[in-house]
Amino acid sequence: MNALYPQQEFESDVAAIKGFAELLIGGYQNPLGVRGTVKLRVPERPEHSFVARLDAQLHIDWTDLDRATDTTVTVPIATLKRLFREFEVIDFRDPAIIGTMEFSGNLDLANHLAKCCLRPSTFTVDWFRAVGALHRAKGYRDLTEVPYLHRPTQRQILELIAESCPAVITGLEPSPPCKDWTLDRLAQHYSDAVVRVRSATQSQTMRDFVRELKDFMANPYDEMVEGFVKPYTEGAQLPQQMWDDFGPLFFDREDFIPPQLWLGAVPTHVPTSSLHRDPRCGFLLQVIGRKRLDLYSADQEDLLYPYKAYNNYQPCWYRPQAPDPEVFPKAQQAKCLSVTLNPGEMIVQPAGWFHQVHALDSPNMSVSYFWRY
Ligand SMILES: [Fe+2]
Repeated sequence: MNALYPQQEFESDVAAIKGFAELLIGGYQNPLGVRGTVKLRVPERPEHSFVARLDAQLHIDWTDLDRATDTTVTVPIATLKRLFREFEVIDFRDPAIIGTMEFSGNLDLANHLAKCCLRPSTFTVDWFRAVGALHRAKGYRDLTEVPYLHRPTQRQILELIAESCPAVITGLEPSPPCKDWTLDRLAQHYSDAVVRVRSATQSQTMRDFVRELKDFMANPYDEMVEGFVKPYTEGAQLPQQMWDDFGPLFFDREDFIPPQLWLGAVPTHVPTSSLHRDPRCGFLLQVIGRKRLDLYSADQEDLLYPYKAYNNYQPCWYRPQAPDPEVFPKAQQAKCLSVTLNPGEMIVQPAGWFHQVHALDSPNMSVSYFWRY
């Protein structure tokens, strides 16, 4: 539990709304100088709605609620209280959260504000600090190559994790069959498996998803169209039917939180995930196409401008693909370790390594597992 916000229940709706505003102020950062206004409307308590003005600081205004703002976000009081109770674990992609909220206007501003209410657990903060010290002691920022291990034993992998050293594992074939997959083979093999959940009421089977993906590839629509949703599973839970072929390797399935599926059309000219780090040891199995991971050791934290408000993973303000030395001068000293993952290869990435992922081919498919420990 984060020491700043020990209160989990509120005396009243008004106390919850005030507490939420404090939470936003406490997590606010704005190095890129975003400007704008967001009205946060609580339908059950309209008189206690507020306007957040994003500037160098975050200003909360409780009066003049009828003014025009760049963005309006409507959050039911039950969702707002849930955000407060669960800010260490909440995921805005959860249909039970996002499906209850309404947005209008500039969504980037809403997105910026939403992140401010997240907080890391004490476990995560302590873990990142310990990993940073270990990486410094090991001199990992000067590492120029990721080690490769062919058909390693469980013990070898545990030793790598204990040293917080990333490695690529090869030789996984022929069992499990994690190579030579195509879209058609996936559609045939897992036709009824649910691979994407868009909302509380909308989900999609592998058969339908592959059909949409192939239509998209034959006739890619404009990415700028409003409401654009590219055919991409974006880390949806790996369906049970796929676990036999793609389930976690080397350890018991119970050792992992449910695996995630990254399947679909992805842009190859921009990163598929922006620079961030995870508090758990991750395994990424590449299945279709290639991916490149750019890794930065945890002791380079001060060079990468990580968010202070985060929970399940820690993003960075600095974007290596668009460096801005005036805003992020220290990032020029950061040392990157790049590794390309081919189909059938898996990377073990101990907790705390910053990383950015680029898809080198589209369509692309990977499965990720995170260790519980
Ligand atoms: Fe990650």
